[in-house]
Amino acid sequence: MKPANYLGFLILLLSSALFLNCTSDPIAGPPGMDGVNGIDGIDGADGVDGTTSCVACHSVSYREPIEMAYENSAHGMGGSWARGTSATCARCHNNEGFQDYLSNLFIDSLGFATADPLGYSVSNPITCTGCHDNHRSFDFENDGNDFAVRTLDPVNLFIDPNVQIDIRNASDELGRSNLCVHCHQPRNSYDIPGPTSDYEITSSRFGPHHGPQSTILEGIMGANIAGSAGYPGVGAAGHRQGSSCISCHMGETTDGTDGGHTWSPTENTCITCHTNGAPSEVTGYAQDLQRLHDLLVAAGSIDEDGSAIPGTYSAEVAQATWNYITLEEDQSHGIHNPNYVKALLQNSIEALEN
Ligand code: HEC
Ligand code: HEC
Ligand code: HEC
Ligand code: HEC
Ligand code: HEC
Ligand code: HEC
Repeated sequence: MKPANYLGFLILLLSSALFLNCTSDPIAGPPGMDGVNGIDGIDGADGVDGTTSCVACHSVSYREPIEMAYENSAHGMGGSWARGTSATCARCHNNEGFQDYLSNLFIDSLGFATADPLGYSVSNPITCTGCHDNHRSFDFENDGNDFAVRTLDPVNLFIDPNVQIDIRNASDELGRSNLCVHCHQPRNSYDIPGPTSDYEITSSRFGPHHGPQSTILEGIMGANIAGSAGYPGVGAAGHRQGSSCISCHMGETTDGTDGGHTWSPTENTCITCHTNGAPSEVTGYAQDLQRLHDLLVAAGSIDEDGSAIPGTYSAEVAQATWNYITLEEDQSHGIHNPNYVKALLQNSIEALEN
């Protein structure tokens, strides 16, 4: 090696030793500057709204007022629920009987209990689980929320199984009101008097026991005596087209004492159509009903209290008697179907006056 080269080699060796010494210094330098933010990620798909919507309706606090309303209602505490031990009454007057009837098990072809010829040993009022069971779907957005009502099916009537009522319209798209129709329809105890032959009234209980509300709303099962007033079409009443049992009786409450599970009609529903406030009565109803009453008392078919007097009557008297008792049993003072009720009253009165 030449001396000049040897010197260069030494310098190189020395400086690399210095360099080594320097880089192995244990004291860290100050942190560098923050890097630039990365690009935003892609949004994930929307999640399901968990159980919030379910809990809103299923919580104890939401249910408490419903339970209170129910307990004070006729469904919760009416006296007639005691009648449901009898095989022929259980389908409408006994929580168990109603469920058996809807299941089609333990009933005969007329819907009477067969489990035991004596009916049921216990009779309870219809309860939450009598009217409700399971949701048909949890896809409320597409399928609607049925509120787990036990049945939405149309009802073939007890008094004439060839006639069906199916209450569905904008106020009740799924047909929850059909639940009510099962019980609030006439019993099959008596035939409706026809227009020609004499008719024998066999009992003081003659008439469409006790809940002809659904048939009046539909505009059927009166004795349609011919006369100057025209009968509106079946199912054509304004109240049948645009409202329903549940919209009028279970709509939003005004003050806690009506609507919902009190089952008292709520004015909030009436004013969606009667924008100046609901008319409190069907025009002329009270006078016309009184007039019909007086004519029937004179004809001998009812007593002063309005109960039927057994006997054989002309077709017209028997028909008018059926209509009178039907309107009394309906208990809505004609409101369920004003035009149908006006026609029944007017034509019955005319028939008796002539
Ligand atoms: C608008 C009110 C309402 C909403 C919302 C609602 N439910 Fe219900 N659900 C009811 C009613 C009423 C019943 C009848 C039984 C009862 O009283 O709990 C019922 C019954 C049930 C039952 C069967 C009865 C039982 O107790 O086992 C299940 C399960 C159920 N709901 C789950 C859900 C789920 C899950 C959701 C949300 C996806 C939901 N519900 C949303 C009103 C509602
Ligand atoms: C299981 C049969 C049954 C079903 C279903 C039923 N009801 Fe009733 N309802 C009755 C009976 C029976 C009474 C009379 C109870 C009593 O006072 O003894 C009654 C009473 C009533 C009353 C009060 C009557 C009064 O004189 O004060 C109203 C209003 C009513 N129901 C409306 C409805 C509506 C609306 C529905 C449907 C959401 C419905 N009901 C479903 C059997 C039923
Ligand atoms: C098709 C259903 C149905 C059947 C079957 C039925 N009922 Fe009723 N009953 C009702 C309804 C609905 C009411 C309530 C009507 C109302 O309040 O307007 C009622 C009301 C009553 C009332 C109270 C009436 C009043 O004026 O306070 C008695 C009592 C009664 N029923 C007894 C019976 C007996 C007894 C039987 C069996 C022989 C029977 N019911 C069969 C539906 C039925
Ligand atoms: C006579 C039948 C009947 C009985 C008894 C009944 N429900 Fe209902 N319930 C219905 C009907 C019909 C609807 C749907 C009303 C509507 O569409 O506006 C409903 C709606 C509901 C709802 C959802 C809508 C609301 O009102 O917030 C809840 C919650 C509910 N019921 C709980 C109960 C509970 C709890 C009980 C017992 C304490 C009970 N129901 C008893 C018929 C009944
Ligand atoms: C247009 C609204 C409306 C519709 C629809 C309707 N109701 Fe009514 N309902 C009333 C009014 C108003 C009364 C009279 C209430 C009163 O005088 O206290 C009444 C009375 C009754 C009564 C007598 C009980 C009482 O409180 O005096 C029963 C039971 C009843 N309705 C059941 C039903 C059933 C079941 C349906 C469906 C088939 C139905 N209603 C449809 C408004 C309606
Ligand atoms: C969907 C709309 C609608 C709703 C809701 C409604 N009504 Fe009506 N109402 C009518 C129509 C339409 C008539 C006229 C008769 C017809 O077309 O059948 C009428 C007629 C009447 C009449 C007869 C008036 C007369 O001069 O004879 C009375 C009473 C009445 N309604 C009371 C009520 C009550 C009470 C409520 C609430 C519980 C109510 N209505 C809810 C549409 C409605």
